[in-house]
Amino acid sequence: MKIRKVGVIGAGQMGAGIAQVCAGIGKEVLLCDIKEEFVQNGINTITKNLQRSVTKERINQDKMNSTLSNVKTTLHNNDLKNCDIVIEAIIENKDIKKKLFSNLGKITKENTILASNTSSIPISILAEASGRPTKVVGMHFMNPVPVMKLVEVIRAKTTDDETFGTTFKLAEDLNKVPVLVNDFPGFVSNRILLPMLNEAIFCVMEGVAEPEAIDTVMKLGMSHPMGPLRLADFIGLDTCLAIMQVLHRDMNDDKYRPCPLLIEMVKKGKLGNKTGEGFYKY
Ligand code: CAA
Repeated sequence: MKIRKVGVIGAGQMGAGIAQVCAGIGKEVLLCDIKEEFVQNGINTITKNLQRSVTKERINQDKMNSTLSNVKTTLHNNDLKNCDIVIEAIIENKDIKKKLFSNLGKITKENTILASNTSSIPISILAEASGRPTKVVGMHFMNPVPVMKLVEVIRAKTTDDETFGTTFKLAEDLNKVPVLVNDFPGFVSNRILLPMLNEAIFCVMEGVAEPEAIDTVMKLGMSHPMGPLRLADFIGLDTCLAIMQVLHRDMNDDKYRPCPLLIEMVKKGKLGNKTGEGFYKY
């Protein structure tokens, strides 16, 4: 199946990045969110990223203009009905995502692929909610989307060959490296990454070392591009907590218990970069 028109739901940092890379290879993109302010923020993010690429002479002004003109916005899911694939990148909340997939299953063409960028919610749950489980797949991009090469393509037991193959090929066309991952809690990336970030937060809570020291250990000692606490701030502490809660519940193993300090920071609204404060101030 050929993908011409891509719907992206959620214009936050992930959705905007996904819209940008799809528009950059000439796809017609419809970026959807629930408020005008949110879609406008998404367009601003894309514009800023493209402008930086122009300044660095990686792309020229024409390419920037054509990429931007490939992105249209809407506040109505119904406008996505003619998309060949819809990629969902909304908040990590199972019930809200289930409701959305149920709606998408009703309004889109029967062969539209419904992909989720969820970082941990089982694809099988969204597949079932959609009412057409063969067409649902996980397409998990990494943040920042324009930079990171990996896409986990998550195949649920019900995903059919065409849906999987078309999604895998789209990731390749985006100049990403897709990797087949089966539908387990947290997939591969977050099953491994998040317990490490959570452990770093335990180190802060227990006073093992200051955040800067912990990050320096992992950057210089293990060659990580960012320390775990700066990375947690970058991902968003609410997202980190949501992923730990899924791992804890679905693996039914206390080794995945979220650190109490993480829970406390989320309660206080210290979510990292997006709120101006997490383990660091921004
Ligand atoms: N959007 C777009 N481009 C960005 C960007 C952003 N938010 N941030 C940085 N870049 C680009 C810069 O323009 C720069 O491009 P050029 O080299 O071509 O000029 C390049 O990335 C490097 O940026 P910087 O020199 O400013 O900074 P850096 O070398 O420290 O790199 C980084 C920044 C790429 C973010 C790097 O620190 C890194 O790789 N960090 C780890 C990121 C990571 O682990 N991501 C996965 C998170 S987990 C996830 O996403 C899954 C989930 O479900 C939670």
